[in-house]
Amino acid sequence: MSSSERVKKGFSKLLKEEKLKLIANYFENPGEVIRLLKSYWHSDTGQQKLFDEFSENTITNFFTPYGISPNVMINGKNYIVPMVIEESSVVAAASAAAKFWGERGGFHAQVIDVRKVGQVHFGWKGTMPQLESLFPDIKTRLLNDTDSITANMRKRGGGILDIQLLDYTAQIPDYYQLRVEFNTCDSMGANFINTVLEQFGHSLHDFFAERLDLPEELRTTETIMTILSNNTPDCRVKVWVECPTDQLDGIDEHLSGPEYALKFKKAVDIAHIDIDRATTHNKGIYNGIDAVVIATGNDFRAVEAAGHTYASRNGRYESLSTVTITDGIFRFELEVPMALGTVGGLTSLHPLAKKSLELLGNPTAPELMTISATMGLANNFSAVRSLTTKGIQAGHMKMHLNNILNQLQASEDEKRQARDFFKDKTVSFAAVEHFLDTIRK
Ligand code: MEV
Repeated sequence: MSSSERVKKGFSKLLKEEKLKLIANYFENPGEVIRLLKSYWHSDTGQQKLFDEFSENTITNFFTPYGISPNVMINGKNYIVPMVIEESSVVAAASAAAKFWGERGGFHAQVIDVRKVGQVHFGWKGTMPQLESLFPDIKTRLLNDTDSITANMRKRGGGILDIQLLDYTAQIPDYYQLRVEFNTCDSMGANFINTVLEQFGHSLHDFFAERLDLPEELRTTETIMTILSNNTPDCRVKVWVECPTDQLDGIDEHLSGPEYALKFKKAVDIAHIDIDRATTHNKGIYNGIDAVVIATGNDFRAVEAAGHTYASRNGRYESLSTVTITDGIFRFELEVPMALGTVGGLTSLHPLAKKSLELLGNPTAPELMTISATMGLANNFSAVRSLTTKGIQAGHMKMHLNNILNQLQASEDEKRQARDFFKDKTVSFAAVEHFLDTIRK
């Protein structure tokens, strides 16, 4: 069957086994594909069912390595950090930076705020002054109608923090917005926020419908949509490392510590003025952040979306990290928004996410923000250090050697010989292929 042929209607209604068989027909050797995909099913059917139910139309599982960056010192506390990532070098880079900074006071972190935002986008035919005069009553109604939804969160110290009214009628006729701020404590809070917002939409409708004192055309509202915002600039964490510049001696064999500090700063400054570099620079930061976010069952798309928006807050996209050198002190800092949870959602359902959190000492959500951001800064430090010294490829390709060997189906003995051979040589796909050809002859 050609891959351009449409899958017949009702695919989602099929049993998992039937879906797998049907999809296997799109491959050259369906029997082999079925065997391969099934070999990734969990041997415990209960566990497999759990995974199947996270998503839809599942036919197998997609494995990703789960690695460890040991001994990461943050605010004087040692963490063993789980990292889920498929890219070689990331865990090694994070671990190398953790070791380097562990010997120089460790990482420092501070949660700036934990406010999250939700929006009710609605249409109303009246003016902003009219709406403002009704707003105290609207607010009371919204809070009363969501009292039972927010009760538990309020008991935990969170809930609705503020409701603002925004007027966008100059851009879109009759369009207003309720911008709602929340504290969702240790949960990421997406479900909580969206449930509250949907109730707000209904309550807004009822509020106006019941105001018989208003002219007919003002008694209706159009709830266009209600949804949390992934822009979370006020749910933000700052992490930094610092040391006297002479403690950077030895990073570059040709430069003193103070000279190297200037070169490192230049590399980070470039990511502040050049968007092409900024994108790659920030990608390196998210190598570390995402790996922890995924390992703990959090939503890395939300975290990245917020980060890239934050990186554009000055009107152009720039580096999320900064370097300052003041009075001989080198300081490397990262400030990022990060909406995370340590209770609820996948953090409680995914067996490995639960174990990750346990390994981290069951942190609160703000503490997890500090850990994830730290791994972002750690990866950023290692990347920029490599780039400004020996280059990225030397280390990267060594790590990549394994992947190439696996791709070329090398035996364990061949891998051992290859690792030995490439210890002091440049790794490339062609070179490894040639090496294997030679020893296989
Ligand atoms: C690769 O995944 C990440 C880097 O490109 C980041 C950077 O260039 O800073 C090495």
